[in-house]
Amino acid sequence: MSAPDSSADVRTVTVAELEARWQGRLSPCLAARVRELNLQYRLLTQPERDENLLRILNSILHPPVAAGAHRLDQWEKGWGENLELLLRAGNVDAVTPLYFGKHHIVRWAGDLAHPITPNFEYLILSVLVEWALETWLADADAIYEFGCGPGYHLLRARKLFPDKPLVGLDWTTASQNILREMVTRGLVSNLRGHRFNFFEPDEALDLKPGEGIYSVAALEQIGDQHERLLEFLCRKRPSVCVHIEPIDELLDETTLLGRLSNAYSRKRNYLQNFLPTLQEWERRGRVRIHAARRTWTGSLFIEGHSLVVWSPV
Ligand SMILES: C[S@@+](CC[C@H](N)C(=O)[O-])C[C@H]1O[C@@H](n2cnc3c(N)ncnc32)[C@H](O)[C@@H]1O
Repeated sequence: MSAPDSSADVRTVTVAELEARWQGRLSPCLAARVRELNLQYRLLTQPERDENLLRILNSILHPPVAAGAHRLDQWEKGWGENLELLLRAGNVDAVTPLYFGKHHIVRWAGDLAHPITPNFEYLILSVLVEWALETWLADADAIYEFGCGPGYHLLRARKLFPDKPLVGLDWTTASQNILREMVTRGLVSNLRGHRFNFFEPDEALDLKPGEGIYSVAALEQIGDQHERLLEFLCRKRPSVCVHIEPIDELLDETTLLGRLSNAYSRKRNYLQNFLPTLQEWERRGRVRIHAARRTWTGSLFIEGHSLVVWSPV
C-alpha cells in the first residue's frame, strides 16, 4: 500500500457523531468510554482508495466460500481455536474472534477509512453493541444472543446487566464449550449456552415473553432462509428482538460503496430480504418494527452492521 500523505487528515469519532449517526443517546458511561478509546482514523489517499476498491471488486469476482448450512465445520474449527486459546491462557481475551482487523481498512461514515487506533473495527463494533444493548434490552428479564460464537458480546452484556440471566445460542459445540469453560473458570456467572440451529429452531428453548434477544453478524449467515426463525420468534414472543446485521435495503445503491457492499453480500449469500419480510409482516399486524437504520460501520468488504429492532405483536 502506498505511503500516507503526511498532511493526512486525522479524524476522531466523537460521541456527538455516534449519537447523530445512530439516532440515539449514549449513556454517560458509554460516552466516557468512547472518549477514552479515542477512535482515530484517516481517509485514504486516492491511490490507496483505488487499491482497496480493487480488492473489494476482486473479492466479488472471486468470492470466498458462501454462507450456508455447509459451513458448520468451518465455524467449529474457528471457535475451536478460541477454545484452545481459552484453555491455555485462561482469560477472557481468548474469546475475541480472530477475524477482526484482518483487512485493516474499514468502513465508517459511508467511506473507507484507515484506522489509526489499534483494533478500531473491533472497538467501534463493541461500542455499537453496547449502545444497542443499553438502549433496547435494559428492560428484558433475560437476554439471549442468537449466533453468539465465542460469547464476547455476552461478556459485555454481563457488565451492563450484572444480574440478568444470559443465554448464548449457537449451532457449534465449540461455542457451547467456550461458554461452559468461562463459567467453570469463574470468568462470568449466570450464563448458559444452548445449541441452536437457525435453520431448525429448537422449540424446547425456554425463551419467554418479557425476555429479549439480539444477534450480531449471525443471521448474516442464513441468506434468505430466515422465515422459520421469524415464525419461531413470533411463537415465543420475546419482548424485543435486536439485530446488528447486513441489511441491503438500508444501504444506498446509488453510491459505489453501497453498491459494492450489496454485491459482496449477495456473493457470500448473506442475509437477504429480512427487512422486507418484517415490513410485510408489520403490514399484516404480526410484528412491530421499532427501528431500521444504517449504523455506518463495517469492514472493508461490507457495511454489515445495520440495526433492525422489532417485536412480535
Ligand atoms: C460471523 S460469526 C458472528 C459471531 C458473533 N455474533 C460476533 O458478533 O462476532 C457468525 C456466527 O453465527 C453462527 N451461525 C452460523 N450459522 C448458524 C446457524 N444456522 N445456526 C446457528 N448459528 C449459526 C456461527 O457459528 C457464528 O458463531
